Amino acid sequence: MAQSNKHEAIERNVFFLIVLTLLAVSVGGLVEIVPLFFQTSTTTAVDDKGNKLDVKPYDPVRLVGRDIYIREGCYNCHSQMIRPFRAETERYGHFSVAGEFIYDHPFQWGSKRTGPDLARVGGRYTSEWHRTHLINPRDVVEESNMPAFPWLNRPADFSDVQDKMRALRQVGVPYSDEEIRTADATIKAYQNEELGGIAPTELDALIAYLQGLGTALRNVR
Ligand code: HEC
Repeated sequence: MAQSNKHEAIERNVFFLIVLTLLAVSVGGLVEIVPLFFQTSTTTAVDDKGNKLDVKPYDPVRLVGRDIYIREGCYNCHSQMIRPFRAETERYGHFSVAGEFIYDHPFQWGSKRTGPDLARVGGRYTSEWHRTHLINPRDVVEESNMPAFPWLNRPADFSDVQDKMRALRQVGVPYSDEEIRTADATIKAYQNEELGGIAPTELDALIAYLQGLGTALRNVR
């Protein structure tokens, strides 16, 4: 009886109950969260079996594309997080692993799927398909209710890409001085090799980003 009386004393004292609840939640939370900052499976580019993944920081073109993805709110309808369930892996490919996102700040996992998950969309369609689809989704998917993004067909702004790379370096993305210094040259090379010398549009940058998604861990089952 003495035991239950003690518990009753806690439950009857709101202040005491709040303090002890917070204490229990904090300890439980710390035990779950703190190890994630130190486990190789969450802090390094490895898959669920510990194999090394070829994850690289976004090159300048993809980085600008990523920012267009965020600006246009694509994440409001698209997740980038395949859960480890049969229904998901059958449809989208290998489930997402933490190591794929180590250079994503902020990550684009999302929580709303009005459209399909995009975690492994890289390489699934041609860049031409994406171009048509983004300008008017109905041209390739008749029943689509995705909005059209025709205004993306304008020159992309790369003027602050070096600042973006420096900012990401502050949060741990390992861009080298050399990579930051030569960002303009990297964009020029992309322009010459992929676009026949024409300056990249926002569509080009966004598509470059999409085509890279999920490719470090190919559709292994
Ligand atoms: C209002 C919700 C909505 C928004 C916002 C949206 N989408 Fe979609 N998206 C959809 C729907 C629904 C589909 C499925 C029909 C289709 O393929 O068009 C889709 C399909 C796609 C697909 C094809 C995926 C696949 O596996 O077939 C891609 C790629 C895509 N969207 C990219 C984007 C990008 C990039 C943006 C931001 C510029 C964006 N979406 C914004 C709803 C949306």
